[in-house]
Amino acid sequence: MTDFSSFDFSGHKALVRVDFNVPLDDAFHITDDTRIRGALPTISKIRKDGGAVILMSHLGRPKSGPEDKFSLRHLIPHLSDLVGTQVKFATDCIGAPACEAAGALQPGEVLLLENLRFHPEETKGNEAFAKELASLGDVYVNDAFGTAHRAHASTAIIARFFPPDRKMFGLLMEAEIRNADKVLHHADKPLTAILGGAKVSDKILIIEHLMKRVQHLIIGGGMAYTFLKAQGKSIGKSLCEEDKLDLANDILSKAKEAGISLLLPVDSVVADAFSADAQTKQVDNDHIPDGWMGLDIGEESVKLFEKTILE
Ligand code: 3PG
Repeated sequence: MTDFSSFDFSGHKALVRVDFNVPLDDAFHITDDTRIRGALPTISKIRKDGGAVILMSHLGRPKSGPEDKFSLRHLIPHLSDLVGTQVKFATDCIGAPACEAAGALQPGEVLLLENLRFHPEETKGNEAFAKELASLGDVYVNDAFGTAHRAHASTAIIARFFPPDRKMFGLLMEAEIRNADKVLHHADKPLTAILGGAKVSDKILIIEHLMKRVQHLIIGGGMAYTFLKAQGKSIGKSLCEEDKLDLANDILSKAKEAGISLLLPVDSVVADAFSADAQTKQVDNDHIPDGWMGLDIGEESVKLFEKTILE
């Protein structure tokens, strides 16, 4: 792997994996462009050097083949404004549309390929698909931090098709790795980690890793209810991974053994439906009524978490 900042992209066609999995409203306007903005320094450095940029990303989780609502073409107007040049578009990420558009790309130009996940080979990590993608550029840059936990064709597998001096992380990925390294290896103690998200199963490796380093572990989000259920509490119709209750108990015991304070929310804002006009109320987590679901932490949990964080 080589260093992005010292690489001279002049005359190169850089294939850049970004995470442009951004939220869109009903009219396909981007409602949060943070992820696109995060990739701009990488795109800009390649263009300034005199290189061409071929952007590849996924959007959403299309089930089988192309679906217009997941087309990356919806991003082009805003992406073009942010990049400061009209971004070109290939209607497929492989095959003739991609090869022709990539072949015609001039230094300084930017091409966006259609959603990688319109091909199931992407998420399967298919090698032949990765090879076809790799043939579009002569340098590979991975700047898709938000997708770094997926071993997909365009993230992990594709790197096999580039020699060490032609593959690298982009500036966003570098910065995130630096931040993670700082927190994990050089942080002042006590160190508190805050985790959210729906699934315990997605986070198990990171929880185990963090338990070796932190003094406090705060767990919120949907996955907190799997832990609460594992503790024998009734959680109504809150999110729960029924097959991960043992795993949740195991994590609770390991934290106890290691002397880590693992904090779960003690109360919740519950609703009778997952809807903006649902009825809501705050309840103690020992008493989430049947038919109600926890959708946020309650005021007592805020106080509890705040106290730990301030310490
Ligand atoms: C995300 O939004 O978490 C990333 O883009 C990864 O998306 P995924 O969970 O659909 O793989």
